[in-house]
Amino acid sequence: MKKILITGGAGFIGSHVVREFVNKYPDYHIFNLDALTYAGNLENLRDIEDRPNYTFIKADITDSTVISSIFIEHQPDAVIHLAAESHVDRSITDPLAFVMTNVIGTVNLLNAAKDIWKDNYEGKRFHHVSTDEVYGTLGSTGLFTENTAYDPHSPYSASKASSDHFVRAYHDTYGFPVVVTNCSNNYGPNHFPEKLIPLCIHNILNNKPLPIYGDGKFTRDWLFVIDHARAIDLVFHRGANGGSYNIGGFNEWQNIDLVRELCKQMDEKLGRPAGTSAQLITFVKDRPGHDLRYAIDASKINEELGYQPSVTFQEGLSITIDWYLNNQEWLDHVTSGDYQNYYAKQYS
Ligand code: NAD
Ligand code: DAU
Repeated sequence: MKKILITGGAGFIGSHVVREFVNKYPDYHIFNLDALTYAGNLENLRDIEDRPNYTFIKADITDSTVISSIFIEHQPDAVIHLAAESHVDRSITDPLAFVMTNVIGTVNLLNAAKDIWKDNYEGKRFHHVSTDEVYGTLGSTGLFTENTAYDPHSPYSASKASSDHFVRAYHDTYGFPVVVTNCSNNYGPNHFPEKLIPLCIHNILNNKPLPIYGDGKFTRDWLFVIDHARAIDLVFHRGANGGSYNIGGFNEWQNIDLVRELCKQMDEKLGRPAGTSAQLITFVKDRPGHDLRYAIDASKINEELGYQPSVTFQEGLSITIDWYLNNQEWLDHVTSGDYQNYYAKQYS
């Protein structure tokens, strides 16, 4: 049986990756290693927590001693590394937390894997999950390719760029088996309501303002989270050793247009008169260092690995809104803080 250690599996994207692997590969054992920070929520994995091929391990990747002992005990054959501090706004107020988890934590994992694999890399793989933000910002034209030079601007993207460099350095220096994926903005179920789409869904439900930074013309490229999980599965199994793959769905939206579309769908689903939710849109002070535009050229993964997203943006957004409407308990637990007791209830 192949043993795969997934970090950050209690978070937004990690929970979808864990579910994809637990369901699709009964012959694998999936270890979900997560510190359960504010962003970690084991309620995201309630449906698979009792599966025989799944084990949760509460641990902090910044603690090298603990991480090494976990690797020695469980001897994973592969790592899919998603654990991170992920929110740009938080990185502006507390950059060091991002250095600790995203940079030091990644190096701790590389060292722990390198120590147990002992230069025998047959059948081994370290898949590092990264972001398009490492490329910096685009002007009004062009796309990020795998060859675009790194030019991070926020403390978050600087920490992710640093971690990507370490992963590639271990490949180039030690022949360590790695693959790196750089994905665009994700949306979907289980998204923590500090990020634009779930924040707006939450605020529409509660008749609160929808804060739009600056003039709202900043552009992001959105991918449904399950399509990111599918792409990770594909690259993990078939990506070239030492390779990099951009992941995206050619789906750019200016923030203001996206929020207006969200308002439209929410009004329809809530049976409110058209235009009701859009009245909550409020332009607020811009994010410092705000990158203007991200857009992924996903040609490489499309052509080399035959990857295509499974849903259009309209479908994915509709599924996402329905999920939040049908899982208001999840949202209540997150906003009240009650979700942080789930670990104690399940794993004490
Ligand atoms: P998230 O914030 O929802 O989840 C992060 C998870 O990591 C949480 O479960 C948290 O408890 C865990 N974690 C944080 N610090 C830890 C530590 N020190 N030790 C162990 N676990 C720790 O993040 P996400 O949005 O799911 O992003 C997952 C990964 O994907 C990140 O590496 C992020 O950079 C990358 N990414 C995210 C997006 C996006 O749109 N959200 C897009 C591209 C890439
Ligand atoms: O591009 C990939 C990245 O996407 C990931 O690496 C990050 O982990 C993830 O958080 C996300 O970063 P963004 O900063 O793009 O996501 P966020 O949802 O915070 O913001 C999306 C856009 O909306 C961005 O231009 C800022 C803007 N925004 C955000 C918030 C929270 C607003 O206008 N108002 C808001 O309240």
